[in-house]
Amino acid sequence: MITIVDDDTRTGPDPRTAAVSIVGLGKLGSPMAACYASMGRRVVGLDLDLGKVESINRGVAPVTEPELQRLMDEAGDRLSATGDWAEIVASTDLTFVIVPTPSLADGGFTSRFVVSACEAIGEALRGKAGFHLVVVSSTVMPGSMDREVRPALEAASGKRCGVDVGLCYSPRFIALGTVVRDFLNPDLVLIGESDPRSGAFLESFYQSVHANNPPVARMGFANAELTKLAVNTFVTTKISFANMLAAICERLPGGDIDAVTGALGLDSRIGPKSLKGGLGYGGPCFPRDNRALARLALDLEAPAAIAEATDAINRLQVPRLLELVKSRLPAGGAVGVLGLAYKAGTDIVEESTGLELARCLLAEGIPVWAYDPLALDNAVRALGAVRASGDSSLRAAPSLEACVGAADVLVLATPWPEFATIQPEMIRRRPGRTAIIDCWRMLDGRRFAGVADYVPLGVGESGAADLRAVA
Ligand SMILES: NC(=O)c1ccc[n+]([C@@H]2O[C@H](COP(=O)([O-])OP(=O)(O)OC[C@H]3O[C@@H](n4cnc5c(N)ncnc54)[C@H](O)[C@@H]3O)[C@@H](O)[C@H]2O)c1
Repeated sequence: MITIVDDDTRTGPDPRTAAVSIVGLGKLGSPMAACYASMGRRVVGLDLDLGKVESINRGVAPVTEPELQRLMDEAGDRLSATGDWAEIVASTDLTFVIVPTPSLADGGFTSRFVVSACEAIGEALRGKAGFHLVVVSSTVMPGSMDREVRPALEAASGKRCGVDVGLCYSPRFIALGTVVRDFLNPDLVLIGESDPRSGAFLESFYQSVHANNPPVARMGFANAELTKLAVNTFVTTKISFANMLAAICERLPGGDIDAVTGALGLDSRIGPKSLKGGLGYGGPCFPRDNRALARLALDLEAPAAIAEATDAINRLQVPRLLELVKSRLPAGGAVGVLGLAYKAGTDIVEESTGLELARCLLAEGIPVWAYDPLALDNAVRALGAVRASGDSSLRAAPSLEACVGAADVLVLATPWPEFATIQPEMIRRRPGRTAIIDCWRMLDGRRFAGVADYVPLGVGESGAADLRAVA
């Protein structure tokens, strides 16, 4: 990491020991608070949801995320939470804001919660002498920091950014399920800054908490805001590109997506990550960041055809899978959906392909059994509307084995490691053969030849790989 020490940082609080406050203790804010506190920092969280405040103060993780409870245990008394804005500002030098920025119907995001949090911080700052840095880590639309957030903070505090208060935009590139790992070892650190002192303070803070010495990119607000959306749009483009190739492989005699993307990823200009070829992307970030970039481009009259095509390909994935499932389903048969979380390691079902597939099948009156190690309750809640409309309801299977045994068509929709343990004996023998649609090619199809038709996505007829296990 390049260290840039601005002269002014020597006279204010020391970023390497500064106490930290975190506004918003949700899926990102809680792990962030626990990470910094487990490293020895004093961290005070604030949330409007007093249930989360109370949970933190009881030492219980307020959200589901691997490693979070362990880090909270390690943090002990260094981590606390409150609903008092004056307290967090007075007792810390650095405040991260990580509140929701919901998507609007046009694809953009609203910053209204970020603005209201910065107004509350600003009011509390009125009575504070000395430098305090406010860092927005929520994802915002390009232009928001200069147009809305900075004016709100300056008006409420009566201070000028760059003089007695600093303002940075530092969004995070994390994935649910690996939040802690991603926080501790980021690929890059992105800092948009109101002024060099603020950027230097934050860079020095990150240098003291990240063991992997990540590269730091510092710039003005607009470029940092665009970069955040651009990173996710580029990753989603890789995913849709691999899915486009997978669809081609399925129609190409001998086609095998893993052979193709495996070789593609060896090219250093391309790289292997996010090139698997399987189902579409989902979750609370990828789809919306991609659409937000397209929205921004449209507003600026600089069309983003790649972002639009990426989104269009992604939207094709559920209909494509639905048709495949229906083509294999005997009359009156049931579908088993394995995996409702949008990715393995999380209980989040937002824009998950497995959940959307279940929703479409239920809407057509097709019985659906579902199993997920973490996300089943959330899926049942999310599908409430389908149930209320009188269609058949989602049948929550108590175990992997129960779901496998109940299905005439089994879909491996989320690559949970547990699903690789499916055994041929779990398949119920019936007059028509069960079809196993393996979206991530987790199973060795040869082992199931006696009991099921194995259908891997991304593999063409008579493809050399169609019976091959892929780790
Ligand atoms: N979840 C992800 O994978 C992810 C990844 C990268 C970026 N982000 C961005 O991070 C931001 C937060 O996401 P999240 O998933 O943690 O959201 P979340 O909904 O899980 O948590 C947000 C928390 O903020 C609280 N809150 C709302 N308004 C508040 C206010 N004015 N003052 C104090 N607390 C308030 C809510 O009660 C909630 O606990 C969003 O902008 C999101 O786009 C999320």
